[in-house]
Amino acid sequence: MGNPLRTAQDRRLPRIPEPCALVIFGVTGDLSRKKLIPAVYDLANRGLLPPGFVVVGYARADWGDGSFESLAHAAAKKGARTPWRDDVWQRLSERFHFIPGSFDDDEAFDHLASTLDELKERNGIAGNAAFYFSIPPAAFPLVLNQLNRTGMADPSKSGGWRRVVVEKPFGHDYQSAVQLNELVDDVFIPEDVFRIDHYLGKETVQNILALRFANSLFEPVWNSKYVDSVQITMAEDVGIGTRAAFYDASGAARDVLQNHLLQLLALVGMEEPTSFDPQEVRAEKLKVLRAISLPPDISTGSVRGQYLPGWVAGERAVGYLEEPNIPADSTTETYAAVRLGIQNRRWAGVPFFVRVGKRMPRRVTEIAIMFKKAPHLPFDPADVEMLGHNQLVIRVQPDEGVVLKFGSKVPGTSMEVRDIAMDFQYGEAFTESSPEAYERLVLDVLIGDRTLFPDAAEIEQSWRVIDPLEAAWAGTKPEPYRSGEWGPRASDEMLAREGRTWRRA
Ligand code: BG6
Repeated sequence: MGNPLRTAQDRRLPRIPEPCALVIFGVTGDLSRKKLIPAVYDLANRGLLPPGFVVVGYARADWGDGSFESLAHAAAKKGARTPWRDDVWQRLSERFHFIPGSFDDDEAFDHLASTLDELKERNGIAGNAAFYFSIPPAAFPLVLNQLNRTGMADPSKSGGWRRVVVEKPFGHDYQSAVQLNELVDDVFIPEDVFRIDHYLGKETVQNILALRFANSLFEPVWNSKYVDSVQITMAEDVGIGTRAAFYDASGAARDVLQNHLLQLLALVGMEEPTSFDPQEVRAEKLKVLRAISLPPDISTGSVRGQYLPGWVAGERAVGYLEEPNIPADSTTETYAAVRLGIQNRRWAGVPFFVRVGKRMPRRVTEIAIMFKKAPHLPFDPADVEMLGHNQLVIRVQPDEGVVLKFGSKVPGTSMEVRDIAMDFQYGEAFTESSPEAYERLVLDVLIGDRTLFPDAAEIEQSWRVIDPLEAAWAGTKPEPYRSGEWGPRASDEMLAREGRTWRRA
């Protein structure tokens, strides 16, 4: 029975999931070590995990030296956001189980199923379990079949809820995404499928909705009457790291444009949802994704690039073609920029310039709303030379916050006007630091809150934007840019042709 002195609206009460298990496939892999295990530690440290909570890791046993316990300990300690506390780790690690096995190993999956059964009684998890696919997409069908065969995917057999969490890449084009969705939907019901786009777990990304729909200030100007253009930038200083095989088969557009960037565009472009019910939010995002238009001529309305050797943050960086395991004649893009439109009344005629790139001068993700210039300036032209477009810049990362740029009089006897910035920074405005995206998303999965997870239709629709780009790019060579530069010159020229420039992020 619920506590009559507590109400769900009370913000002082943390949201805590029901007792459950988190099963991580690929638990020794990169994502799990860097993000998932630390996220679980941080949740434990914040007291947000339920009593009886268990983690069951599944992976092949050949990850290297040392026990699973020491691998998890090192991963949690290295990646933890919150202060390290040995006693928290001690209690948490007692709830870690490891099951070695490959994805075609029936015996190992039977062992996993019986372990979950035992834990049901022993830890009181009532059959509740979330299965996290932190594995290459090629292994999805195998694992889904195993979950089906053993009955683990079936809530009626387990007696509790069963959820599945699927990491990107969700397919490599529209057709494969549809197939993958069918496969997942064969085994789980749609309400139990959580597709991760970790950008939606970032505080600054969720704040786009707060900024737009909790204030009266911005909405009246959030349209083609006042907005000249929108620029969405995701720049990374890093190269492709150790993911050569995956990256060379995908490229920048499939890796991040299809998901993170189109989700940002959808949040900026969407209409107000009737409520924050997951269905309502997704319905509005989907409408925007459906209304996206590509440039009439993709060859002039988009640019792909590939990094050459160069210098990034004072360090020498090799070119993409010299990266280990990249074929010397690869034509995969590490940079992509495209001029998109949104075909509806609000955004008619407003270009959305979207760019992503690796080995850029620094790591920055931001959304810049560039406003039209004032229709009339009653000033001496020389006095407004330093006045640009008003801008509202949502800084997703780093230096999370929002900057408003507008013109102000320079102190003195003349009426000189120059751009200045009004700056909101999370670090200064709030004492609480933002949770990591994965911390938030893992918690939401365990709670069963699907608001921050794109659904199958959104993912399929996003591929419909990417497929024609990929088709137009097939057989072409990406434009070179030096590591440490803001992409190829052709990208600047694309904007210059219409009298615009990329914002210096
Ligand atoms: C991942 C991409 O989805 O996002 C990577 O596959 C990229 O290529 C990463 O580096 C960036 O994430 P974040 O949170 O560091 O911006």
